[in-house]
Amino acid sequence: MKNIILIGFMGAGKTTIGQKLARRLAMDFVDTDQQIEKEQHCTIGKIFRDKGEVQFRRMETELLSRLSGCEHTVISVGGGLPVRTENHEYLKNIGKTVYLKAEKETLVERLKGGAGRPLLQGGELEHKITELMQKRESIYERVADTVLKTDQKSPGQIVDELERILCDEC
Ligand code: S3P
Repeated sequence: MKNIILIGFMGAGKTTIGQKLARRLAMDFVDTDQQIEKEQHCTIGKIFRDKGEVQFRRMETELLSRLSGCEHTVISVGGGLPVRTENHEYLKNIGKTVYLKAEKETLVERLKGGAGRPLLQGGELEHKITELMQKRESIYERVADTVLKTDQKSPGQIVDELERILCDEC
């Protein structure tokens, strides 16, 4: 099977689902945030603080360009990666892109109490999510080959559905 790329908003479950899906399909797994943290020896929060978001976005694009050489890999990407237009061509070439879609209420529930995401710090969580979603939703829809709704579904159910969709198409 070609590479599979999981995109979606923070809290959509990309990393959890990606790991499970890779295990299920006996594929390799890469998470762009984890990979950047490993290579930079530093958390995403610290990269944002010390180097700024623009620099982080450059790191994402540079990593994505390297992932173009991947095979048989499930790749979960940070929520902001598909927003950069220059990443679209890479995504298209790397493999099949699945948008893990979640309603705002689901995201608020999943993201409240979490302190690790720089773009959600300070201010009211629901407001921040609404603002970012307004900017990103249509981009996710456009970039994705497949959209999968994840609300009220367990990770196991989502992986079952993904396996069915992806295997029907391969
Ligand atoms: C971001 C999402 C995060 C991480 C960074 C920025 C975003 O990844 O890349 O904090 O802009 O949506 P997750 O989507 O895995 O939380």
